[in-house]
Amino acid sequence: MRPVDLPHASRLINHGPTVIVSTVRDGRRNLMSAAWSMPVEFTPPRVAVVIDKRTFTCEQALASGTLAISIPGRTLADLTYTVGTTSGRDLPLTGPDKFAHYGVESVPGPVLGLPLVAGCIAWMECRVLAEPRTQDLYDTFFVEVVSAQADERVFAGGRWSMRADNSDLHTLHHLGAGLFAVAGDPVQGRILDPA
Ligand SMILES: Cc1cc2nc3c(=O)[nH]c(=O)nc-3n(C[C@H](O)[C@H](O)[C@H](O)COP(=O)(O)O)c2cc1C
Repeated sequence: MRPVDLPHASRLINHGPTVIVSTVRDGRRNLMSAAWSMPVEFTPPRVAVVIDKRTFTCEQALASGTLAISIPGRTLADLTYTVGTTSGRDLPLTGPDKFAHYGVESVPGPVLGLPLVAGCIAWMECRVLAEPRTQDLYDTFFVEVVSAQADERVFAGGRWSMRADNSDLHTLHHLGAGLFAVAGDPVQGRILDPA
């Protein structure tokens, strides 16, 4: 074991599935990548996502009170990296939004009508919970999931099924600087016998 620089400590555990957060406010849509998200409650279904306050997404999510989470598979690595390295704030307000700018199709969510990213393997629509302190101090949004859909070729019976025959649909896990690991080498854990 070697010491890890503390600014890199988060990278030891930041390779959960990278997601794409989409928002819409007054008809203007936006997208950003987020590697830092996690479930926090089964019922009601709640998750936390870190959304830096300097992002356009933060502004959009606070103003609209909603956001959607799309989970990209390996074929969307370039899109995932791209929307995580450019800001919707840099696009002219009267011009194409980030979806149109990068030619990303959206699908309206069934409950909130939020723009879900076409081609992703799962979608969630979420309402932002009022937690101004954690948003302000930790840039962390706690959200409640109000709709969830997944591609049945890779998520069925309430769990992921990553196999050789659906490898294009395996999740992306950010290692840093646009490099992703792809999930898909499942191993079944078994309860150990006492030593
Ligand atoms: C793979 C990847 C993962 C990222 N994860 C996060 C994250 O978890 N939280 C965050 O605030 N920014 C994250 N970012 C940076 C934002 O996606 C980036 O600031 C983006 O340009 C914001 O876009 P916006 O200003 O249009 O909202 C990530 C970037 C990449 C490339």
